[in-house]
Amino acid sequence: MKRPIAYIAGTGRGIPAHVMTNHDFAAIGIETSHEWIVERSGIHERHIAKTETACSMGAEASRQAMQRAGVDAGEIDVIVVSTATPDRLLPATAVDLQAELGASRAAAFDVSAACSGWLYALTVAEGMIMSGVGETILVVAAEKLSAITAWTDRSTCVLFGDGAGAVVLKRSQGRHAGHGILSAYMRSDGTLAELLYRPNGGATTPFSAEVLADRSHYVKMAGREVFKHAVRSMADAADRALDGAKLTGNDIDLLIPHQANVRIIEATAKHANIPMDKVYVNVDRYGNTSSASIPIALDEVIRSGRAHEGSKILMVAFGAGFTWASMVVRL
Ligand code: ACO
Repeated sequence: MKRPIAYIAGTGRGIPAHVMTNHDFAAIGIETSHEWIVERSGIHERHIAKTETACSMGAEASRQAMQRAGVDAGEIDVIVVSTATPDRLLPATAVDLQAELGASRAAAFDVSAACSGWLYALTVAEGMIMSGVGETILVVAAEKLSAITAWTDRSTCVLFGDGAGAVVLKRSQGRHAGHGILSAYMRSDGTLAELLYRPNGGATTPFSAEVLADRSHYVKMAGREVFKHAVRSMADAADRALDGAKLTGNDIDLLIPHQANVRIIEATAKHANIPMDKVYVNVDRYGNTSSASIPIALDEVIRSGRAHEGSKILMVAFGAGFTWASMVVRL
């Protein structure tokens, strides 16, 4: 096991106020049922941003994380925001967040790796601490999936939700030596990009009347294929992070998987030999908030006392790209 370089000094979450239940789909003309959605995904409700933005949700999460870490905005060296739903295409949401927080010394940029993005961002941030670029890094995931979801497509619109999570990452030293990231693993497979993507609206086929009319700027997903790959890749990623930390499923206090679908979560836990009472599940309350799902869950387990200093947590994600990633941290 490597000596940890960076530890999580504080966490926070920013959740939109509006709750949409499975029963609310009838009112917008979607032919579905609470039973179908729960059986296939485990989702009961999700939060939908009405007035909130990726930046405002990220700011709420960041302020909580900074307060709990005992860090002022002026002490932040770098802000990394994972998002698949930036508020604007240019510049990065991270610079809007920097302005909002008044983190005037920080360098700020976005990371784009879909649902795995926050674990990617955390790995990037750890590298920056290792190389001496920064000592105190805000790592945020802020997602407004409702903005890129076709609210006429029942196979996708029932799955997603909005929200943000954040952590302050600091160098593991002094009292915190031995705490932090014990292992990290990241992989991608771009040959499978078109199983989960937004076909148009990017620089290749910019927005036009045609794109808007055929709704090809919204998320398109081959659900069954994604499901298969998610199960396989998350199982592999769990093994890699455990091997990297020289641990087994038995040594783990809590598994926090990406919250996309409870069936994918159960399969990942089974493969890693981690019983479900050690697996955190909140997909029932949030739906799939893409890269925000793990940091939201992490904040919940810490706030509720389910995890505490010293807890060993395995985190595993999978998403568009495909990308997948995993990490073991000791809080
Ligand atoms: N309500 C009712 N019926 C529906 C709905 C709905 N909301 N959506 C689809 N159906 C219908 C389909 O039209 C289809 O009907 P048909 O057989 O008459 O054609 C039937 O239900 C079965 O559809 P499938 O897509 O085959 O259903 P499946 O069992 O695969 O479940 C689901 C669909 C939930 C999307 C599943 O494939 C899944 O979870 N995939 C993983 C996708 C995912 O999590 N993506 C998130 C991004 S990646 C990540 O975060 C892991």
